[in-house]
Amino acid sequence: MSADAVRFSEERLAEIETLVKRYPGPQSALMPVLYMAQEDFGYLSMDTQKMIAGVLGLRLMQVREVVTFYTMFREQPCGTHLLEVCTNAGCMLNGAYELAEHMCKTLGIKMGETTPDGLFTIAEVECAGACGGAPVVQVNNIYHEKATPDSMDALITHVRAQAGGKA
Ligand code: FES
Repeated sequence: MSADAVRFSEERLAEIETLVKRYPGPQSALMPVLYMAQEDFGYLSMDTQKMIAGVLGLRLMQVREVVTFYTMFREQPCGTHLLEVCTNAGCMLNGAYELAEHMCKTLGIKMGETTPDGLFTIAEVECAGACGGAPVVQVNNIYHEKATPDSMDALITHVRAQAGGKA
């Protein structure tokens, strides 16, 4: 797909126009626009990044600098449920690695992979900023604090059941 083929909807473009007006310059709107694109297209392909650069009047490098710096921006497609396991110090000391290993086993994939049914991607991330609730697993935009193998198994089972798959 070429950059010309990736397009925001008219509604999104109107939203972006309103957003840009709130800031001194279009670059300040880059992060929220990247979130919008990720929500709309699932991930930030190079074509999507080029399209965003065009929409905001930025150089592609200005977009790339932000996309590649922050772990919450994805350049590859991922499952409908992104399980981000924090393995930074606070969570590591509260069993994050054991939890991640258990989740990978339940899902039947390795860290960083997506299940063949496209339901889950599991990723290791740096501090999620909720250390008091360690270990933390972010599932799409929702934080699961004090996550346990049982609570994550329950979540995975629930999602699979909802998707009509095998629980
Ligand atoms: S170390 Fe995991 S949320 Fe901070």
